Amino acid sequence: MLVYQSVLVLSVVQVVMCRADVSLWPRPLPSWTPVAGRVLREALTGPLSGHQVMLMVDDGVQRSLSLDLLLTGLTSPTVLLHTTMLSTDKGFTTQQASLTQSVLVAVVGTGSPWLLWSPPGWLSPRVVLVLVAAQTCSARKHFQSPLLQNTPSVALLCLNHKPQTPEYSTYSVMTHFPLSANPEPLSLGTWHLDTFTTLEDLFPDQFQDFGDTALSATLILDDKPAVFQRDDGEVDGLSVRILAAMAYWLNFTDSHNIVSDICFLVAATWGNRLENGSYDGMLGVVQRKESHMVINNYAITYQRVKDFDCSVSYFLEGYGMILKDPPPLPHWQSIFYPFTGIVWAAVGGIVILVTLAYYFVNIRGLRLSMILSFLDVLKSLLSQSVSQEPLVWVSRGLLGLWLLATWVLRVSYTSNLMAFLTVPALQAPLDTLEQLAESDLRLCMLDYGDFVPEALATSTNPILARLGAKLDLVPIIATLPHEGMEGCVELVMAGTHAHLEAYSYVRSLFHDLGHSGKVYPLKEQLYPGNQAFYFTKHTPWKYKFDIGMQRLVDSGLIWHWYSDIMQEASHSNKDKSRLPVLSLSHLQGSFLLLAVGGWLATIALLGERLLQPNTTSP
Ligand SMILES: *[C@@H]1O[C@H](CO)[C@@H](O)[C@H](O)[C@H]1NC(C)=O
Ligand SMILES: *[C@@H]1O[C@H](CO)[C@@H](O)[C@H](O)[C@H]1NC(C)=O
Repeated sequence: MLVYQSVLVLSVVQVVMCRADVSLWPRPLPSWTPVAGRVLREALTGPLSGHQVMLMVDDGVQRSLSLDLLLTGLTSPTVLLHTTMLSTDKGFTTQQASLTQSVLVAVVGTGSPWLLWSPPGWLSPRVVLVLVAAQTCSARKHFQSPLLQNTPSVALLCLNHKPQTPEYSTYSVMTHFPLSANPEPLSLGTWHLDTFTTLEDLFPDQFQDFGDTALSATLILDDKPAVFQRDDGEVDGLSVRILAAMAYWLNFTDSHNIVSDICFLVAATWGNRLENGSYDGMLGVVQRKESHMVINNYAITYQRVKDFDCSVSYFLEGYGMILKDPPPLPHWQSIFYPFTGIVWAAVGGIVILVTLAYYFVNIRGLRLSMILSFLDVLKSLLSQSVSQEPLVWVSRGLLGLWLLATWVLRVSYTSNLMAFLTVPALQAPLDTLEQLAESDLRLCMLDYGDFVPEALATSTNPILARLGAKLDLVPIIATLPHEGMEGCVELVMAGTHAHLEAYSYVRSLFHDLGHSGKVYPLKEQLYPGNQAFYFTKHTPWKYKFDIGMQRLVDSGLIWHWYSDIMQEASHSNKDKSRLPVLSLSHLQGSFLLLAVGGWLATIALLGERLLQPNTTSP
């Protein structure tokens, strides 16, 4: 609302200025100028009504055309821009944002109006309507001007001058399809309010068909999942598939301008902004118009959006951390895992209690010794039958209850044991950044000038600051296939570090190096950012990419492709190691127990024989 009001105020001031200007300047009016005024008024009240309009009148026109006449009866809110405002960029910053999205109506005369040929850099209207207020109209030339070349929707109103009866002169509406097979100006018909009632009538989509134009995308290959090279040599990836879909839809051929820099990971290759506002690296290639776009894993940032045309975001991705799986617990201990320590202690306690109880209830009838009572109680726990059936009903009841209790204990123990043998027993993995900050693990990252190390080190968030203090940087080694990422991978596999890198990239990196079954990503991500394509500033057909990419996102194709690409990365290794095969080694504990029991029994037998060699058992 505030912006709108200020624009209105601005318009009033400017109209006053211009009127003062004009009234000082009496001049003869060619008799077709009322027609121009009428067409302008009709355009503003017809197809352009309801849109915010910037009106610019070229200097050359003001000499031949009465601004008073042109502006009489204009009702829609209109910003009138004066050349003095345009030539100095001062005082324009606040309005810029609202002006860039609006409709620009330019009234120009003959020659090469500077507005079309050297427009100020901040001016990037969505729609431009040019009214040629002169007898001759060189449509082809006007369409070649930078402003019209850079604007998505343009139309030209050209005078069909009738020298004998100038008051019956008409205007025809011209447009062009710059990328189609026939880029010549095309007439849409004679201007009439009934024919051109909406913006779409006046501005048909000029980029329906790119006419098989070649568009080039600058990219580097080792950037899974955005761009990568498959084993068969084909370039594939999320961005590459998006580009192919757009090429199919818009009818252009996409060529890849693959940057094979010695050391692509250096941030300079991705594109840094230099002091003077120019970029190096891949963004520099696009800025110098040597390529149409970059499609690698670029996040949307404020500065880049100001310096480039940015597509809608197609993916959200942050920095992830890869950690080594905690080591599995040793196999021989597996006989203890089914119960926790407390349960084991409780079982022990109960055995003693039941032994005592059994001894005391049998003290009259069976006269079992304490040790025999204990053995009877223990036997049922180990699925052995009781040697002597008690006669007293109290003792029978007690034994029955105990048999039931041991049956429950045995079943739960066996089930738990089976579960532990089939699902590898692991220590609990980490989930959050906070847990990682509190753990003994350090962080590792390749030292390629990324913003993350500094951002962590200077963070005011205590968790991030603690992570920053634990971050170790490994150097770039250009001769290695992954430029030194291998250093961090080694540290992760040694169990001392977590590897910090773009989430999907680092996951596929560990897969490529054959470690995918042994590591896991932290659930929480760091600095999530929206990924997008960047185009040269003022790319007129960028909006077609926005529409198409948004459709790919909304229809779920992007996500489908992503999981397709990442599945390839996660399937092969992970599944083999995740489906354990039960082997003898899983039963180490049981065999150990058997061996120990066997030895004890043998020793007991030998002891008995040696101590009482003459005793014969019945
Ligand atoms: C793509 O453009 C070329 C050149 O204008 C044209 O010949 C071809 O028919 C177009 N293809 C489609 C599918 O429209
Ligand atoms: C900006 O500086 C770089 C080197 O510092 C130079 O190569 C480039 O041409 C400069 N760009 C402009 C627009 O001055």
